[in-house]
Amino acid sequence: MGQRIPIGKADDFPEGEAAVVSVNGKDVAVFRVGGQFYAIDDLCPHMGASLSGGHVEDGVVTCPWHYWRFRLSDGAWADNPKVKTGCYPVHREGAEVVLEVPDRV
Ligand code: FES
Repeated sequence: MGQRIPIGKADDFPEGEAAVVSVNGKDVAVFRVGGQFYAIDDLCPHMGASLSGGHVEDGVVTCPWHYWRFRLSDGAWADNPKVKTGCYPVHREGAEVVLEVPDRV
């Protein structure tokens, strides 16, 4: 079924920046890029850097430690899209930003 979790007001997420929200004990990085919201697991699957601290360009975040690149739209590793990190629907409902996650994240 999944959960819909309000994570804050849209104004809490500055354009071009990322924030980390904790969902059921897991950190999720929420990016606002071009007015759209994207959410992927914050923990880089390589060695655990915070992807929220990465550089975003053309819809891809680059891990700050060893430069693995992940697409914000689906969490795929840009250099080998068969490998994916967690990616979650996130959208605006009025002034609120709502994250959708499975019951077990
Ligand atoms: S920790 Fe992200 S690429 Fe190594």
